[in-house]
Amino acid sequence: MVTCYDAWSARILNTTDVDCLLVGDSLAVVMHGFESTVHATIEMMELHVAAVARGAPNKFIVADMPFLSCSKGVEVAMDAVQRLMQAGANAIKIEGASHQLSVIKQIIEAGVPVMGHLGLTPQSIHNLGGHKVQGKDEAGVQKITADAVALEAVGCFSIVLECVPNKLGECISRSLGILTIGIGAGPDTNGQVLVLHDLIGTNPDFSPKFLRRYANVHEVIGASVQRYHGDVVAGSFPTVEESYG
Ligand code: KIV
Repeated sequence: MVTCYDAWSARILNTTDVDCLLVGDSLAVVMHGFESTVHATIEMMELHVAAVARGAPNKFIVADMPFLSCSKGVEVAMDAVQRLMQAGANAIKIEGASHQLSVIKQIIEAGVPVMGHLGLTPQSIHNLGGHKVQGKDEAGVQKITADAVALEAVGCFSIVLECVPNKLGECISRSLGILTIGIGAGPDTNGQVLVLHDLIGTNPDFSPKFLRRYANVHEVIGASVQRYHGDVVAGSFPTVEESYG
């Protein structure tokens, strides 16, 4: 799985073998420049889901439920689900379990596939005290494991495990019947997810341990625009061939 936020990258990803596109609320940070995913709104998510759905008609699209949309009661949650699904999502992703389990169950019973998200849940960043590996002590292991079991029990089809020790990623993946998708959760989850912009190297300042960069798009874009600017200033762009007669 890889994140996707817009139509042009969706068109590219539509030509790849990647199984699933995630319109993650990380778009608030990556696309809109906010400090955290807390700033993602349903309007933002809906707009980006629709763009991705237009660009990648062949892909399974998962959309993140934005901050607090599952904590304000089932009616608010269902409205958000409706907007994301009608915008073109095939499933939604919800961070956390505990107090949201009954809402998650009702969403699934309404016919909407739900992906869970445990471990480092960025919408709770202020409670977690920053981007830290979760499940490092016994209490954390017990909590994340119990939440994973509970999410499977209410009917989630998959769970993202973010920033947990390899052993915990492996242990949960082995004990569940549903698919786990890891990011910073080691090699033994059933699948992996990365933020597209991170894997293609748009931000040289972001280098978490789990990230592998497959390109240096920051450099490619910077150098391309620099050359274009140089050509315009030098008068070598556009040429006669690049102009209408
Ligand atoms: O919002 C997001 O991009 C995510 C992934 C990092 C799993 O939730």
